[in-house]
Amino acid sequence: MDAENIVIKKIAILGGTGKEGKGLAYRWAKAGYQIIIGSRNKEKADVAVFELKGILGNQFEITGATNPEAAQAGDVVVMTVPFGVHKEMLESLKPYVAGKIFIDVSVPLVPPKVTKVQMPAAGSAAQEAQQILGENAQVVSAFQNISYEHLLNDKELECDVLVCGSGKPARMIALELVKAAGLVGWDAGPLENSVVVEGLTSVLIGLNKQFGVQAAGIRITGIPRPK
Ligand SMILES: NC(=O)c1ccc[n+]([C@@H]2O[C@H](COP(=O)([O-])OP(=O)(O)OC[C@H]3O[C@@H](n4cnc5c(N)ncnc54)[C@H](OP(=O)(O)O)[C@@H]3O)[C@@H](O)[C@H]2O)c1
Repeated sequence: MDAENIVIKKIAILGGTGKEGKGLAYRWAKAGYQIIIGSRNKEKADVAVFELKGILGNQFEITGATNPEAAQAGDVVVMTVPFGVHKEMLESLKPYVAGKIFIDVSVPLVPPKVTKVQMPAAGSAAQEAQQILGENAQVVSAFQNISYEHLLNDKELECDVLVCGSGKPARMIALELVKAAGLVGWDAGPLENSVVVEGLTSVLIGLNKQFGVQAAGIRITGIPRPK
């Protein structure tokens, strides 16, 4: 697979019926991408499509599918499911994401102690994804610090996105999608660095609790902000 030559038109969001997936779908549909909402249940995906079109308008290209159909159809595959089902989802979807860029949004939260960083044996959720999917898929991690509360609207976001992944071309494609979502993204290096980004989410949830807010975020300083 040569990420440099991939043109992204269709974005498949597995578990796109949920909070984070729907928010990303909203932003990318607005940016002009075709969105395929994936679900275990096609009818549930169609309900999410109906909801999104109700907010955005019928002219936007959003369709519903089962997760395998969505993964197969997407030029890039994004996964937004709870970490408890991360492994089983990846194992079942492996044949459908071969040769693709796979953006993992998962945070390995282990309830009830979600404010404590608890990484899986692979090192991080993103590394677990790469282990399961193998070298034929390029895993990139992103958006783990962006609360869904920020996404389903057009407001400017104060939280930046750190993108980690095993190849620079794949990270560049993910950064393009970060920008399309109206966010500021940074190339945060190899997939091994995802442990820091995923771990930060537990810190942010802890701060949310301390300060009674819902969407603490992070921002890179000391570098001119991209326009
Ligand atoms: N929520 C946030 O603000 C936020 C922020 C950053 C990162 N994240 C990460 O993004 C991921 C999704 O978070 P979320 O809040 O969007 O989750 P969610 O709304 O609870 O669930 C997302 C979707 O996952 C699917 N799902 C649930 N149980 C499943 C199972 N047993 N097997 C297969 N699919 C299942 C469901 O889709 P179907 O029922 O349609 O199959 C559901 O709509 C998590 O890993 C989370 O850590 C979330």
